[in-house]
Amino acid sequence: MSSVKSLKTISFMLIILLPAMLLSNGPRVTVDVSKPGVKISPTMYGIFFEDINFGADGGIYAELVKNRSFEFDRPLQGWRIVKNGGAAGDVLILRDATRPRNPRYARIRVDQPGEGFALANDGFRGIGISEGAGYRFAIEAKKVEGKISALRVQLVNEEGQTLAEGRVESFSGDWKTYQCEMKASATAAKAKMNVWVEGAGTLDIDMVSLFPNDTWKGRKNGLRADIVQLLADMKPGFLRFPGGCIVEGFDLSQRYQWKNTIGPLNQRVSNISRWNFEFRHRLTPDYFQSYGLGYFEFFLLAEDLRAEPMPIITCGMACQFNTGELVPMEQLDPYIQDALDLIEFANGAADSKWGKIRAEMGHPAPFNMKMLGVGNEQWGPQYVERYIAFSRAIKAKYPDMQLIAATGSDGTIFPNGEAEIEYLWTQWRKLNPEIVDEHFYRAPEWFLENVNWYDNYERKGPKLFVGEYGAQSVGVASPDNRNNWKCALYEAAFMMGFERNADLVTMSAYAPLFAHEDAWQWRPDLIWFDNLKAYGSANYYVQKLFSLNAGTHLLTATVAGVPNLDDKKKGLHISTTFDENAGEVIVKAINATDGILETSIDLRGAKEVGEAAKVIVLASGSLSDENSLAEPTKISPQESVVKIGRDEFTHALQPYSLTILRVPVK
Ligand code: AHR
Repeated sequence: MSSVKSLKTISFMLIILLPAMLLSNGPRVTVDVSKPGVKISPTMYGIFFEDINFGADGGIYAELVKNRSFEFDRPLQGWRIVKNGGAAGDVLILRDATRPRNPRYARIRVDQPGEGFALANDGFRGIGISEGAGYRFAIEAKKVEGKISALRVQLVNEEGQTLAEGRVESFSGDWKTYQCEMKASATAAKAKMNVWVEGAGTLDIDMVSLFPNDTWKGRKNGLRADIVQLLADMKPGFLRFPGGCIVEGFDLSQRYQWKNTIGPLNQRVSNISRWNFEFRHRLTPDYFQSYGLGYFEFFLLAEDLRAEPMPIITCGMACQFNTGELVPMEQLDPYIQDALDLIEFANGAADSKWGKIRAEMGHPAPFNMKMLGVGNEQWGPQYVERYIAFSRAIKAKYPDMQLIAATGSDGTIFPNGEAEIEYLWTQWRKLNPEIVDEHFYRAPEWFLENVNWYDNYERKGPKLFVGEYGAQSVGVASPDNRNNWKCALYEAAFMMGFERNADLVTMSAYAPLFAHEDAWQWRPDLIWFDNLKAYGSANYYVQKLFSLNAGTHLLTATVAGVPNLDDKKKGLHISTTFDENAGEVIVKAINATDGILETSIDLRGAKEVGEAAKVIVLASGSLSDENSLAEPTKISPQESVVKIGRDEFTHALQPYSLTILRVPVK
């Protein structure tokens, strides 16, 4: 395989800028098929999940009841008390000191049933209900006194029509779970759930839940099948979770504590989301983390997706954009112990302390976690000294665990600009973590102009993880940003730089992953959804195509026949790889011009070239085009087959397009 030195001297990709008048002359791409080069890491393209934009509760986690255990700061947020025709009574919130992980519950007291007393839940900006689908209602209840005989559950649409009904009854004087099944007679995106009380008396309730039966793999406490399918279709190499800034928390008390997210649902410790109040322009006061999607479910999801699990743990530093609270070094041990325990939870034997809990949750076999991120976007000497403490302890017990060190936030939004990154890199070169994580939230043009970003990076030392990136069409995290074709196309050009530097860059992920149409805080995002449907942005299709067509080895390519006109790089971008499993040369080409590029391709060194090649084109006439709920596949891959049969052929690259050619060779 090529050495680092040869990589530097050989150019795998050329960026050619073409004047309109020369477009018809066409560039000539020569690919050296005889010498497959550096391996493309199987983890090159992955996904980064953070619970932002209602990504977990209200998103991929299929629970339909908001604030099911009354643990929000305002215990009845999301709930309404309905009293019809003379009904009298109240709902009180009680705290049970003997259940410190989930202390609150609601006490329903009905004095007069009148024409109806109910607790109604609004769901996550409504409840999505599909015609013919089955739903399971569950509630923990305890009879206190009187004659409440049943709870009648009703799903109603915005017009007040009942779409599904169920009933639970015969409550005992001890806490028990009651369940009923319901079937929806019609579809509604913004249904509500009414829980009507039959009879008068006092009943305590908690963990009020409504799940569709049709979850991913039909699991109880499962995930939304349509959203997971979009992830599965990407065949991601890894799953980074659970964040992002939520790992760090606004302050240390709100940090993500993985131990609070495992075990029985009614013993998981809810937490506010930092995104609840982070952006004044997108306040989301009903954003909390139930942790129904917790660490066990993340590991399971990674396993389902055949992606390497990559947890990011808190390292004793709260978000430095917020309070920046630090755990004093002499008090860091419990945090480090949490990291060690996490490794045991993931990989330990089923009879080890934490492995046993994993086994009891239904997964006796280890999850085989190989990577662990220490902190998210941390920076400064405080981070380095904490990283050293974590790294020492982890490596002493688990020498093979690959550690990921951060380079803070994006250089453009750092308090001290690029200097922060330089400082951290100096440290990482000395400390040598296996992987270093870089983030880029920049203008689309930046991504295009910096396709060579990694060409001159130092090769010795850590591997590169482009852990978060996304072109921001207006400004970093501006609410006016769009997932338009320009952003997606220019990101694709940047990603070609990952492939060309595959000896260094081994992982990458777009960010953020998810957004609820009615409850997002940050845009752009890869996958959008409402309560019923989900779709991939143009950026999603770029990610998916790169992942499915990564290939296994780099191939050297040169481009000739066109002059390099300016530094804006609005020309032709090429990346070429070989897929040894399929026996195919993969040519990825981006035409960033507004004209057709008639391109000749020479597969030099191929003994035999297949008769036909698969062509996948992702394109759109305008750079401002985007996908939407109404037009979810407006920008999506179009596949065809072209005749080839020889080692030199021409192909017309459409304006503003990403084209992938898969040519069988021997
Ligand atoms: O992706 C959104 C946020 O951007 C992440 O939480 C953080 O890591 C970065 O600043």
